[in-house]
Amino acid sequence: MARRKIIAGNWKMNKTPSEARELCALLAPLVKDADTDVVYCVPAIDIVPVVEAVKGSNVEVGAENMYIEEKGAYTGEIAPDMIVDAGAKWVIIGHSERREYFKEDDAFLNKKVLKAFEHGLTPILCCGESLEQRESGVTLDWIRLQIKSDLQGVTKEQASGMVIAYEPIWAIGTGKTATADQAEEVCRAIRECIAEIYDTDTAEKIRIQYGGSMNGGNCKELLAKPNIDGGLIGGASLKAEFAEIVNYNK
Ligand code: 13P
Repeated sequence: MARRKIIAGNWKMNKTPSEARELCALLAPLVKDADTDVVYCVPAIDIVPVVEAVKGSNVEVGAENMYIEEKGAYTGEIAPDMIVDAGAKWVIIGHSERREYFKEDDAFLNKKVLKAFEHGLTPILCCGESLEQRESGVTLDWIRLQIKSDLQGVTKEQASGMVIAYEPIWAIGTGKTATADQAEEVCRAIRECIAEIYDTDTAEKIRIQYGGSMNGGNCKELLAKPNIDGGLIGGASLKAEFAEIVNYNK
């Protein structure tokens, strides 16, 4: 069974609501014939205007983050129900920027993953090693630890439908992409880890993206690898170039 590719933009902390509408209008004609799933993961304040802007199209919307409680005194946080009611279907969990700047650890991220599923949101769970970890040869051990910790209590059915994004930290925003072979090696290890936790059926269904300086120029080679089922795109998702990635096979 061939897995359908999924190309997701992670807009990070970019685009005001007005700019978000403009970007959606720019991309709409360029991504409309995609053979891949297309998702825009956008800042919380942009979810409503972006859902409105992509209505009736092939584009789905995701949040970039979410809190683990239902509601209450958590000033500044966004509840899962708010994301769902706004019309988003996806949520990025555990991006390395959240792990680093906001000190989110695997135990906390595991709660987020479970909470997302509880509300019918599909997580795009991020993992990835630092340059120091890669150079000291612990990449695969580290990634396996992240995946196993973050997926505690997640059922096989839930895991089958979710997305894992492998994003080497040293490749994010640096213009220094992992080679297709490096990315494939880790994505294959992630799939083997899923097979160990669940079974081969789940491992065959789960989609694994690569993220880290993916662009119009390098996407073809990365997306040709058997275990790379898509991309999580930062910088290049904010411009027309995003459509080149979405249409990589045309
Ligand atoms: P860049 O594509 O800007 O390197 O960012 C990747 C990323 O972090 C996507 O989540």
